[in-house]
Amino acid sequence: MSTEPRQERDGDVATGGRDSLSVTDNRTGETYEIEITDGTIRALELRQIKVSDDDFGLMTYDPAYMNTASCRSAITYLDGTDGILEYRGYPIDQLAEKSTYLEVAYLLVHGELPDQAQLDEWTYQITIHTFVHENVKEFMGGFRHDAHPMGMLLGAIGALSTFYPDANDISDPSNREIQTIRLIAKMPTLAAFAFRHSNGQPYVYPDNELSYSGSFLNMMYKMTELKYEPDPRLERALDVLFILHADHEQNCSTSAVRSVGSSQVDPYSAMAAGVGALYGPLHGGANEAVLRMLRRIKTTENIPGFVEGVKAGEERLMGFGHRVYKNYDPRARIIKSAAEDAFEVTGRNPLLDVALELEKIALEDEYFIQRKLYPNVDFYSGLIYEAMGLPVSMFPVMFAIGRTSGWIAQWLEMVQDSEQKISRPRQIYTGARQRDYVPLEQR
Ligand code: CMC
Repeated sequence: MSTEPRQERDGDVATGGRDSLSVTDNRTGETYEIEITDGTIRALELRQIKVSDDDFGLMTYDPAYMNTASCRSAITYLDGTDGILEYRGYPIDQLAEKSTYLEVAYLLVHGELPDQAQLDEWTYQITIHTFVHENVKEFMGGFRHDAHPMGMLLGAIGALSTFYPDANDISDPSNREIQTIRLIAKMPTLAAFAFRHSNGQPYVYPDNELSYSGSFLNMMYKMTELKYEPDPRLERALDVLFILHADHEQNCSTSAVRSVGSSQVDPYSAMAAGVGALYGPLHGGANEAVLRMLRRIKTTENIPGFVEGVKAGEERLMGFGHRVYKNYDPRARIIKSAAEDAFEVTGRNPLLDVALELEKIALEDEYFIQRKLYPNVDFYSGLIYEAMGLPVSMFPVMFAIGRTSGWIAQWLEMVQDSEQKISRPRQIYTGARQRDYVPLEQR
């Protein structure tokens, strides 16, 4: 199989001509030839296009980076038209079916699937780093009883940088490796502590005899039993959810991690930026919105009326549609079957019938067909989390645990990329200029 990077671009066809773009500046009549590589031109090439010597040069304006590649990356390939998602070239459905989250985390971070010895060592390293400093419990205890667990996670992950001041030395590969292990290992512990704090329950330490997901379930749900024994079906469902959420190329939180990390700050502070971005309802919060919507619809009889409202533009069908996937979200299919597995243990979430019927009706409806609106990853994930007894406020926290391996893989790639510099976009200044200060009494 070719390992050449491929481009996710419609109409990206070889024409037999030169791989360049000729641009004529109609202000001056000058023509410039700009090289095209991987279906992309370098924005800085435009800087040579000037009307005079003291002109700054042409810039591109791209709010929300809708058409700007901010990096070259070999981690995740995504083709929205054909609904393809691959980590390091491996299709997401194969990984979700056959691998474990820790194996996928290794793949994302190191670029290759581990052999048995590598996997054993990786698992061992992650497992022995799952504990957090005892002081973490104290500052967790400082949060209000009703603090949002994602806010607690955000604070806690940033605070870890103060426990590992050596993490600042991001130029040392062995240092980066140990911080990578710590981050993947400790994220579930911080997440579970946040959950237990919200419930007013004592913190439960990791159980290093259990799997990554099993230990997390133990920290979440262990009560008085001496040994918590996770149900292997729930453990697996959770692992699949973590795998599906592990990376999604240059999304909002990953871009935040890269952008903050580009200042060469320690990785804990960069990850805190990722958690902050994921906290927002347009990113990690959509599954919560799906659940609230399903609760509101309540029964299948109410679906036609709800769908009419969506078509009339009164609201959106949450969990449908995606900026990139315009065919289907490959993660949604996998999650749907993970949901069935989880419900065998937790009992069927009564809202599943509403979700299934809603999906069926929407997929047959012209409005959704025409606009290429399909279920996305969030349509079913909330149902699983709810069936596991999680409050909606924990949903983005679950997303953050899985996404940690992706954030760290992207951060590692960024700090080793000689082309990367501190992130510093340009602006088009639209404000006033050169005004003289007016004393307060004259305003
Ligand atoms: N329900 C009803 N109509 C929709 C929906 C929806 N969920 N999504 C898009 N549309 C319509 C939209 O009204 C527009 O119609 P028209 O052309 O008549 O104006 C058309 O489809 C195109 O929509 P858009 O807003 O230009 O599409 P976008 O690519 O900017 O938005 C989206 C993508 C995910 C924000 C949007 O589909 C949406 O709001 N979905 C619901 C929220 C959701 O499920 N978000 C989770 C995304 S997956 C999480 C992740 O991968 O991180």
